[in-house]
Amino acid sequence: MMLQRTAPTLENVRIAQRTYRLRLECPEIAARIRPGQFLMLRLPNTSDPLLGRPFAFYDTIDDTSGRPFALDVVYLVVGKMTSRLADVRAGEPIELWGPLGNGFADPGPIDEALFVAGGIGQTPFLAFARQLLGRRGYAGAAAQQRTERIRLLYGVRSADLAAGIEDFRAQGVDVALASDDGSLGQRGYVTQLLPTTAPRGPVYGCGPEPMLHALAQWAKHVSARCWVSLETPMACGIGACFSCVTRVQTDTGWDYKRVCVDGPIFDAAKLLWEHPND
Ligand SMILES: Cc1cc2nc3c(=O)[nH]c(=O)nc-3n(C[C@H](O)[C@H](O)[C@H](O)COP(=O)(O)OP(=O)(O)OC[C@H]3O[C@@H](n4cnc5c(N)ncnc54)[C@H](O)[C@@H]3O)c2cc1C
Ligand code: FES
Repeated sequence: MMLQRTAPTLENVRIAQRTYRLRLECPEIAARIRPGQFLMLRLPNTSDPLLGRPFAFYDTIDDTSGRPFALDVVYLVVGKMTSRLADVRAGEPIELWGPLGNGFADPGPIDEALFVAGGIGQTPFLAFARQLLGRRGYAGAAAQQRTERIRLLYGVRSADLAAGIEDFRAQGVDVALASDDGSLGQRGYVTQLLPTTAPRGPVYGCGPEPMLHALAQWAKHVSARCWVSLETPMACGIGACFSCVTRVQTDTGWDYKRVCVDGPIFDAAKLLWEHPND
C-alpha cells in the first residue's frame, strides 16, 4: 500500500562528488518498503519543480528496539530538483510517497548473485545485498539467507563519483571497479568486467540504458538470467500519467509497460531497447 507523508530530514550528507545520502524519518514507509522498490520525493512549498522525482530505496535505519524508523536515498545532482535537494538541511521537511514499484523478486536459494551498476545505479543494490545475505528482512519479513556470495561490478566516470563502496564491502559484498578515465579500478566500461561465462546465479543491473542494453546482450550470449532496474524519468510514480512507458515483449508481440507500476525491475530478455548498441 502506497503512503504519502511529509517527513523531516535527519541528514543530508555529501558522500562523493555531486552525490548525497538523504536520511528521512518516516517509520511507516520504512517498515513497508522492500529492496528494488522506489520512492517519489518532492520539495514542499514550491511549484518549481512541481512534480516529484523517483529515487531508489537505499536502506532503512532501525531504532534501538530494532524497528525501522528512517530510510536512506542516495542521489546524484543532475538538474533542478536534485540541485535544490542538495541544499536541504536537517530538520527541513520533504514530501514523499511510496513504497512504489515491484521490487526484486525472491530468487530462492542461489549459489551467487552478480550486481552490475553504472553511474548512480548502485543505489537499489545495498538493501538487496543485505536481504540476500540474510543480514536483515524488509517489510516485516524475517531475515532469510539466499546466498553467501555477491559480487558487485561498479563503474563510474571517475573516482570522485564513486559512492557507497564501503557500504557494500561492510556487508561482505565483493566489489570490482571500473572508471572511464582509469582513476578507479580498471579503465573502461563496467561491462568490460563481466565474466566470459555465465555466473552461478542471477544477474541484476542498474544504470544508463546503453549499459543495461550491453548487459542484456551479454546475458543472452552467456545464457544468464538477468534482471534490470530501469531509471526512466517519471511524473507521477503511481501509474496515472503514462510518462514512464517502456516496450516489453509479450506472447503476441510487444506492449507498453509503465515502469513505475510494472517495474522498475524487468526481465532483461523481455525489454525492447530503444537505443541499439549495434
Ligand atoms: C525507479 C528510479 C529510481 C531512481 N533512483 C535514483 C537514485 O537512487 N539516485 C539518483 O540520483 N537518481 C535516481 N533516479 C534518477 C532520478 O529520478 C533523476 O536523476 C531525477 O529525477 C533528476 O531530477 P532533477 O530535477 O534533478 O533533474 P531534471 O532537471 O529533471 O533533469 C536534468 C537532466 O537530467 C536528465 N534526466 C532526468 N532524469 C533522468 C533519468 N532518469 N535518466 C536520464 N536522464 C535523466 C534530464 O533529461 C535533464 O537533461 C531514479 C529514477 C528512477 C525511475
Ligand atoms: S510515472 Fe506516471 S504512469 Fe508511471
